[in-house]
Amino acid sequence: MLEAKFGFPGFCFRAGSEWLKVIEVKDLVHQYKTPQGEAKKALQGISLTIKEGEFVAVIGHNGSGKSTLAKHLNALLLPHQGKVVINGIDTSTQERLWDIRQQVGMVFQNPDNQLIATTVEEDVAFGPENLGIPPVKIRQLVDESLECVGLDEFKARAPHLLSGGQKQRVAIAGVIAMKPRILVLDEPTAMLDPIGRKEVMDTVIGLNKEEGLTIVHITHFMEEAVFADRVVVMEEGNIVMEGEPRQVFSQVDILRKLRLDVPPMTELRERLVQSGIKLPPGILNVEEMVMALCP
Ligand SMILES: Nc1ncnc2c1ncn2[C@@H]1O[C@H](COP(=O)(O)OP(=O)(O)O)[C@@H](O)[C@H]1O
Ligand SMILES: [Mg+2]
Repeated sequence: MLEAKFGFPGFCFRAGSEWLKVIEVKDLVHQYKTPQGEAKKALQGISLTIKEGEFVAVIGHNGSGKSTLAKHLNALLLPHQGKVVINGIDTSTQERLWDIRQQVGMVFQNPDNQLIATTVEEDVAFGPENLGIPPVKIRQLVDESLECVGLDEFKARAPHLLSGGQKQRVAIAGVIAMKPRILVLDEPTAMLDPIGRKEVMDTVIGLNKEEGLTIVHITHFMEEAVFADRVVVMEEGNIVMEGEPRQVFSQVDILRKLRLDVPPMTELRERLVQSGIKLPPGILNVEEMVMALCP
């Protein structure tokens, strides 16, 4: 595969039908010490390549290593063994730390921990200000980012008065105002109600499809993972399964053994098949279920 070696960081191109890798994780080991002083591995030598523009969902039971992996993607953590390369930059290159942080935007679970300013626009401006961008340009970036997440009319609002979904969209706007190429979201919908979750998912899908951002979306909602190009399943610090959502979610028994759910329509299909109704494998959403039941 060709490396992106042209011009400014973040620039990638497509050679023939082959997209360039923007994230390359190779034999990554993350070690930590328990309070008793015992060395343990949260990541046991995982490898993962993600291509420019790809939408990857990461699922796995609690403690499987998802957040640890996320933190390695923007050098919040550094490998004990193996390496992580972002757009050609090894995350252990100290001098390029801020390039990596600018290129990989992170959104976490709790929006209240990510919003700091007294108005929405000040909050979104915080990242670009830290990058030393001139004020006129910052104003433009703030406007564009808020428009991207559908909150341009909320500029002057106080973030703490917004709904959970809106807060999380402000957090996303704050990250995309720094013009990253990659967005890593660590369970961004875990604390939201169904409306908030839909708002955030629509925003993330839009950023992927319309703005071409590469997405790494960690979630325990299987109906969110269905939107990905690829689903990565983690267990005890390893990647144990990987593939298109239809491929992964048709392996219901294995997912159950990994203590994971399947998407609601996959679950319904399984129950209907058990009660004698003939249905094709790989049903992921309501439309596909309706088509299968009344072709
Ligand atoms: N610095 C640390 N100290 C103690 N335990 C840690 C540390 N880093 C990771 N772990 C452990 O590693 C495992 C993976 O954690 P994490 O990446 O947060 O999992 P997930 O996000 O999938 O729930 C967990 O069992 C966690 O307790
Ligand atoms: Mg986690």
